[in-house]
Amino acid sequence: MDSFEIEGGRRLSGTLDASGSKNAALPILFAALLCPERLTLRRVPRLHDIKTTLSLLEGVGARVEREGERVTIDLPQFTSTEAPYDLVRTMRASVLMLGPLLARERSARVSLPGGCAIGSRPVDIHLAALEQMGAELRLESGYIVGSCPGGLRGAEIVFRFPSVGATQQVMMAASLAEGKTVIRNAAREPEIENLAGFLRAMGAKISGDGTSDITIEGVARLHGCDFEVMFDRIEAGTLLLAGPITGGSVRVRGMDTGCLEAFFAVLRKTGVAVSAGEGWVEASAGGSQCADFETQPHPGYATDLQAQMMAYLAQVNGVSHVSEKIFENRYMHVPELVRMGADIRVEGPQAMIYGKPGCYQGAVVMATDLRASASLVLAGLVANGTTRVRRIYHLDRGYESLETKLCSLGAAVSRKPE
Ligand code: UD1
Repeated sequence: MDSFEIEGGRRLSGTLDASGSKNAALPILFAALLCPERLTLRRVPRLHDIKTTLSLLEGVGARVEREGERVTIDLPQFTSTEAPYDLVRTMRASVLMLGPLLARERSARVSLPGGCAIGSRPVDIHLAALEQMGAELRLESGYIVGSCPGGLRGAEIVFRFPSVGATQQVMMAASLAEGKTVIRNAAREPEIENLAGFLRAMGAKISGDGTSDITIEGVARLHGCDFEVMFDRIEAGTLLLAGPITGGSVRVRGMDTGCLEAFFAVLRKTGVAVSAGEGWVEASAGGSQCADFETQPHPGYATDLQAQMMAYLAQVNGVSHVSEKIFENRYMHVPELVRMGADIRVEGPQAMIYGKPGCYQGAVVMATDLRASASLVLAGLVANGTTRVRRIYHLDRGYESLETKLCSLGAAVSRKPE
């Protein structure tokens, strides 16, 4: 298991390119299961979760070729309809195989997911929706086994919560279902719109993505296409924070402010100067004030940028309040940030951050999940002395060559085998 060694205290500045989005690429790769013709995907990030997904596709018979950020997929015929536990256990998004397999092959055997240990993260909304579309599902030795001999049929589905994954699941399944499906209280994340764009490029009939009501008219067959994945807004937000937290300035190219407005609003409240131009955004150190925020479904503040913003707020002036509304137990970074000198107190879903400039000292800390790891790296960049972030395999699931990117901005980060 590798770790990062970070010499803190260097001011970071410079320009970087945003990578393709992990959270958009994963559902898009699973949606490839719906198509019997050749697909070409561009701007696919080089990440561990993507490798896992490509192995899952190969496991059911897909021919996959990868050249840098370009991936081609051919799946004229399935050789299996199973997503095995050994691959699924590392990545919760694997449950997204269920809808496409049922839609195209009418049967599926998908292991129940693992993934980040943030709260209980059930998949009940996914399963109830597929059942409403005519799938018969049962749990068998840790696997969800599904079939729909007559094919899936359209339905009106009302979500009790706008789950990102469940919205993607239903959009994919409904693309090849018989008749019309309407999703009410659908998630509105930009990654949903990106998936809808890909499904449309394959010939699916979808409208309303980006709003709470999505309509899908099923078609009999989808066709091949060439599609580019959107930028990774969570990576972009993390990299932008690396500027102001070290007193510097970072520009990220290949992105826009549109899908991170709530994040930029908080950043501006703290005094950070955020500017944007054609295809780039820049964040520069400015004031140093506290700011409150709560995580919410899009267009609210993204839970995936909660830990990173907390690392930032711990070293500004004043008391900030954070409320985590999406996941239970998503404060696992807090004890580690506290070990580095932050003063953060957690009560249930609330956190109070008693900010103090210069609070961080280097320490050996442990990454517990993907975004928590990023917050420890940000704290390490500004800490006095050396920080070692252990178990960075979590980071590798979601950040492409983070150490190389940070070093190009002037950071001293190196990867050490343990
Ligand atoms: C996706 C993102 C993840 C992000 C999250 C919220 C991917 C691969 N992952 O995860 O990075 O943090 O959106 O923006 O895109 N829930 C249920 N039952 C369900 C489904 C969800 O109770 O069937 C609950 C979850 O436990 C959680 C909340 O709904 O508390 C949000 O989950 P969801 O929006 O589904 O997130 P994911 O799609 O898993």
